[in-house]
Formats: sequence, C-alpha cells, structure tokens
Amino acid sequence: HRPTGIHHNFEVAGMVDSTSGLVDRAIFTDEGLYQQELRRVFAPSWLFLGHVDQLKKTGDFFTTFMGEDPIIVSKGKDGEIRAFLNSCRHRGARVCRADYGTTKNFTCTYHGWTYDLEGKLSNVPNVAGYDENFDTADWGLVEVAQIDNYKGLIFATWNPSAPELPDALGGAKYYMDAFLDKDPEGTVVVGGIMKWELDGNWKLAAEQFATDWYHVNMSHASALMVLSPTGKGPKSEIANTPGRQFHDEQGGHGAGFPTHPKSRFDAQKVHEHYDYGFLRERLGDATVEGPMTTGHGTIFPNFSYLPINGSIRIWHPKGPNKMEVWAWTILDKSMSPEVREAQRLYNLRTFGPSGIFESDDGENWSEVQSISNGFVTNSVALNLQMGIGSEREDGVYPGTTSELYSDAAGRNFYRKWAQLMDTPAWHEEPNE
Ligand code: FES
Ligand code: FE
Repeated sequence: HRPTGIHHNFEVAGMVDSTSGLVDRAIFTDEGLYQQELRRVFAPSWLFLGHVDQLKKTGDFFTTFMGEDPIIVSKGKDGEIRAFLNSCRHRGARVCRADYGTTKNFTCTYHGWTYDLEGKLSNVPNVAGYDENFDTADWGLVEVAQIDNYKGLIFATWNPSAPELPDALGGAKYYMDAFLDKDPEGTVVVGGIMKWELDGNWKLAAEQFATDWYHVNMSHASALMVLSPTGKGPKSEIANTPGRQFHDEQGGHGAGFPTHPKSRFDAQKVHEHYDYGFLRERLGDATVEGPMTTGHGTIFPNFSYLPINGSIRIWHPKGPNKMEVWAWTILDKSMSPEVREAQRLYNLRTFGPSGIFESDDGENWSEVQSISNGFVTNSVALNLQMGIGSEREDGVYPGTTSELYSDAAGRNFYRKWAQLMDTPAWHEEPNE
C-alpha cells in the first residue's frame, strides 16, 4: 500500500538553524511544507495512539489519528492490539465512526463491506458480482507496520524500517519513567479523553512542552498566584528556580523540570498518596526531586506529558494553522478512589481545556499563529537562542542537559524536524 502521487519536496535546511538558534516563521504556515510534514515527519515516526487501559477485552476499540490519517485501534480475539487505517478498501469511507466502544466487527455504512477485529475483510454484500480474481484476502484494512507499548502507552508507525519503540524513545525513557513507573502496577486512565481545537500550528505546542519553561513566570503568573500557598505568586515561589532541561539528539525528544518545586505540590492531594521513601528507592533521588515533579516533556513529534498532573496529550495536526488537542489523565493504579478523583479535578482545573494553565498556553499559540500569515511577519525569524553552548552532561540527569530556562531542547526539536523533512522517507524509495 505504498503511498503514491505527485509530491513536491522543499529543502528546509536553511529555514531552521539549530546552531544560530533561528527559526523561519514560514514553517508554521506554509501548506506545502505541511503536506511534506505529513509524508516525512509523521508517516515515518512512532506516533502515540492511546493507553492500554482503553482496550480491556476482546472487541474493545477506539479511533484516533496518525498525522491526518484516521486510525482504528482494536483488541483482537487473540488478545493482540492492532491498528488500522480507518478507511474502507472499497470506496474509502470510514468503517468506524465512533470514538470508542466494543464490537464484533466493523461494517462500512456505504455499501456494507465488513472487517473483523483483525482487519480482515469478512463479508462483501453481493460478492457474486465480482469475478474469480477478486479475493477478500487482498482487501483487508491497511495495517500499521509496527505497534508496541511503553509502560502502557501505545505507539505505532507506518515505517517498517523505524527502530523498535524502546530504541526510538531512547534517552527519553528515563524521563517518562518518572510518571509511568512510580507504581509497580502501572497507570490507569481516569475520566474521559478531553478533545478541543486550537488555532495554531502543532509545532508551537510540541516545542513548548519540550523546551519552554521561560514562559511560566510571565504567562502563568495569575495561575501561579492562585495555586501559591502564600498567595504571592511567581516572584516568591518559582522565579529563578533551579532545574534542568534534557534533550535526546537521536530522537528529537525533550523535557524540562525544576529541581525544587515544593510550593507547586501543596495544592495537590497526591501528597497524601505518595510514599516518598518508596519512590526514592524505586526511581532514585534525582528522579523524585526532578522529572517526577512539575516538569513537562515532548516525545517527538507530537506527544507531550506533565508528570505530576498525570496529563498526557497529543497535538493532532489539522492543517498548518490548526491543531486538535486530545488530553488524558493517567494516574497510578494503586491510588485510592478519593485521591484519583482529587487528581482528576486538579488536572481538569489546571490543564483541562479551560484549565488555568492550559488556557494561557493556548492563547499564546493562537496569538502567534493569528499574525503569522502577514508577508513581512512571516519573513522575520524567531529566536531560540537561549542557552546556546550550555548543553552538557551534568553527571546527575542522563543524556544531554541544559539549564531549565533554555531553548536547547527546542533547537534540537527543530534540528530533528529539518533532518526528517530533508530525508526521503521509506515510501519514497524507488520501486525496483
Ligand atoms: Fe465501504 Fe463501499 S465504501 S463498502
Ligand atoms: Fe505553559
């Protein structure tokens, strides 16, 4: 099922310069570059689909997107989780229009072709109308090339030659463990999946979660004041907070975290739940004092997370100027129902669609996007120069780190992005 068609590729090497820290604003607005992103950034990469907790028994399914491609994720009779393109092989309609549910099969409502949980074409109305060359075995749903989960988070890729998921996550796994591995029993999804649209290119959000702590004191000043136990807000609470910022050169991932965020903990019921002695033994002091706290990170290209909130999210691209945010609350399995509910509400109030932090961030991205199409505006470079030269191994946190207030992970994110944009993907290799 090799993608074919006429594609024009543009060289972007000159548009993002990770050495000088300059980024061309057209990468957020150009339709041609956006189409190239779908082919060369999204199609070859591992993309987040959902949490294993969403598929408990045979027949459970949910739908999502990989890039702009609609996807069904289902649990088969053999207990395996599979992911398929949600598009009928006949004339292309979606074969499943529900967000999630339980089913025996997927029946296309256009002409009635039916697919089983393993994606095989199992029934064709008036099959006698086709000649003997028609074989239903040739017309199953298009399946992803690789699917796997890391501690409950399901990822998939169309790319048969992508490195296996643990290798693709690389050095970011240590930082993900800070929220996925606190509980020996793992995590569960609490509440529904929140979905909302934002004006803004998906990279603005992904980049920020990888690299941007600089905005916190300014953009979230009022929110921090509300949460602050003294009511004084950022000046007394987190200004000049020490911390580190990690980036994974191979994968393009990034994460930043304060190392003394005690004041941010107090609004959370989760304190009563955690046995910090146990966590220090399980994850190590550095994790408990750093990435387990109020940090946030991005797994390249468009999956982001906030450990202490239990918020995970995907920034679905919907054209160069729009994204759709899907956000889950995932919490430790062994949390009591009371702590779970308190954490769910805490996450909703801070990083739900109208949360006091989330709405600050969305407003910034939409503001930047709303003026980016101006001709002159579009030709003035953006600055990601903070912390140039500060990248090093710090001896405490694994991999390459920089200061908390730095653009290092952002420069790395765009370096990886440009590298993929300028490299023919597996599907572009010429047929022999
Ligand atoms: Fe699905 Fe015709 S498009 S059966
Ligand atoms: Fe923010």
